[in-house]
Amino acid sequence: MTTAILEPSEMTAPGVYRPQEDSQLIVDVMERHAPPAGLRVVDLCTGSGFVAINAAAQGAASVAAFDLSSLAVRSARANAVAAGVEVDVHLGHWARAAEFGPFDLVLSNPPYVPFDEESEENLPENAGPRLAFDAGIDGRLVLDPLCAYAPNLLTERGRLLVVHSEFAGIDQTVEALRAAGLRSNVVTHQRIPFGPVMTARAPWLERTGRLEPGRRYERLAVIEAVRP
Ligand SMILES: C[S@@+](CC[C@H](N)C(=O)[O-])C[C@H]1O[C@@H](n2cnc3c(N)ncnc32)[C@H](O)[C@@H]1O
Repeated sequence: MTTAILEPSEMTAPGVYRPQEDSQLIVDVMERHAPPAGLRVVDLCTGSGFVAINAAAQGAASVAAFDLSSLAVRSARANAVAAGVEVDVHLGHWARAAEFGPFDLVLSNPPYVPFDEESEENLPENAGPRLAFDAGIDGRLVLDPLCAYAPNLLTERGRLLVVHSEFAGIDQTVEALRAAGLRSNVVTHQRIPFGPVMTARAPWLERTGRLEPGRRYERLAVIEAVRP
């Protein structure tokens, strides 16, 4: 099989999260900090498969991927074929990964945007599917169980990389991973302008005291955790 590098713009499909700054940031950190060559890798919440496909293209021994959306699963499978790499894409909750583990490297760009019915927002059409970003009032609907469960997915010395915004609580993720018995720290930050979803939610975040008036940027972080 010949491996072709796919651009994020080539990996879009209706109803599937388009790879964005967070997707690229976790891939960049993986490349620099946790090269997947020869490792058993899993990508939780894979969407278009962007992260999983990059891990496979960088020589992972095997790559599994999970997503709750059947549109995402179909798209990730098609993108892996187009890229000429093997990714075992499963339809289902990320926790199903335990059936196929343990893994040397666990990667995840999960939903993490705070949301509440009271936000009374109007999301623009280009916002993407809500399943990809809505994550409860504090943004931690997926992050908290994922941090608590992570040790079950990792081999000894196995490593987790997870990316999310400051609005879901970067320190909380580090603490939750430590509470689960892992060594954890922040690998990198990146400041980005608000996209369509955060722009729509900014007035609600301001009203609830979580955003300084007028600020329209956020910090992303990639957090790592290692099983000792
Ligand atoms: C922010 S998108 C990230 C997509 C891709 N990893 C990327 O970086 O471009 C999050 C993805 O998580 C999926 N998802 C949401 N809840 C999930 C769950 N409980 N288990 C598995 N996938 C889930 C959504 O369908 C969506 O594709």
